[in-house]
Amino acid sequence: MAIKQIGVIGCGLMGAGIAQVAAQAGFPTIVVEANDALLERGLGGLRSTLDGLVARGKLDNRAKEETVARLTGSTRLDDLAGTDLVIEAITENQPLKNETFARLDRICAPHALLASNTSSCNVTGMAAATRRPQQVLGLHFFNPVPLMKLVEVVRTILTDDASVATATEWVRAIGKVPVQTKDSTAFIVNRLLVPYLLDAIRLYEGGLASLEDIDQAMKLGCGYPMGPFTLLDLVGLDTTMFVAEVMFEEFREPRYAPPPLLKRMVMAGHLGRKTGRGFYRY
Ligand code: CAA
Ligand code: NAD
Repeated sequence: MAIKQIGVIGCGLMGAGIAQVAAQAGFPTIVVEANDALLERGLGGLRSTLDGLVARGKLDNRAKEETVARLTGSTRLDDLAGTDLVIEAITENQPLKNETFARLDRICAPHALLASNTSSCNVTGMAAATRRPQQVLGLHFFNPVPLMKLVEVVRTILTDDASVATATEWVRAIGKVPVQTKDSTAFIVNRLLVPYLLDAIRLYEGGLASLEDIDQAMKLGCGYPMGPFTLLDLVGLDTTMFVAEVMFEEFREPRYAPPPLLKRMVMAGHLGRKTGRGFYRY
């Protein structure tokens, strides 16, 4: 099955990036947000990113105009009826995702593939909410989407070979590198990355060193492109907490439990770059 038209649900950090790479790779893309203000904020941010790339000579103006012309915004899931592949990138919440997949199943054409960008929720639950579980899978992108090459292609026990093959081919068509993983909570990258990020918070909470020194140590001592607190602020502290809660609920291992400081920062609304303040101020 050839994928031509893409739908992206959620135009936050991840949805905006996914819509950008899909449209830049030549795919007409419809982006659905919860309301007009959020849609305008998400698409407005995406257009400014493209303007910034033009200003820095990374993208020519014509390619930018063509990309913008391929992007359509909507606040109605019904507008995804003509799409071949929908990628859900809404808040990390299993019941909300299951309900969205059930609605999508009623709206989309029978051949359409339904994918989730979830970090940790189970894709099997989303598949089971539809009457096409064989065409439901995870396509897990990394933040910032335009710069990170990897996509985890997540296969449930219900996904069929044809859907995995079509989705994998599309991942390559947008210039990303696929790896395949089973639908086991947090997949490959987050299973390893999230305990590291949570440990960094515990070290800081325990007074071992300053934020800046922990970040500097991991950058210069391990050659990581950014330290754990800069990365936590990039990912979003709310998303990190939701992911940790799902992992703790699944595995019941203390190393996955969200540290008290993380919970309090989320309560305080310090969610990272996206709110102007997380561990650092922006
Ligand atoms: N679209 C296209 N190109 C873009 C862009 C965009 N939106 N934004 C920036 N660029 C371009 C820049 O113009 C620049 O181009 P040149 O190199 O030609 O000048 C290039 O991309 C690099 O930009 P930066 O200078 O800002 O990038 P950097 O070298 O400082 O690296 C980084 C930034 C890639 C984010 C790097 O710091 C990094 O790899 N950090 C770690 C990120 C990471 O670990 N992400 C995973 C998070 S976990 C996750 O995502 C999973 C989950 O479920 C939570
Ligand atoms: P975000 O908070 O930046 O964006 C989520 C967006 O979804 C918001 O704009 C919200 O308005 C919208 N939304 C919520 N419910 C909706 C609905 N019913 N219909 C339409 N839009 C709706 O979050 P994010 O960081 O972009 O994360 C989105 C998903 O991607 C989550 O599942 C997250 O776990 C996953 N993810 C996040 C990262 C990361 O680094 N932040 C990386 C990989 C995967």
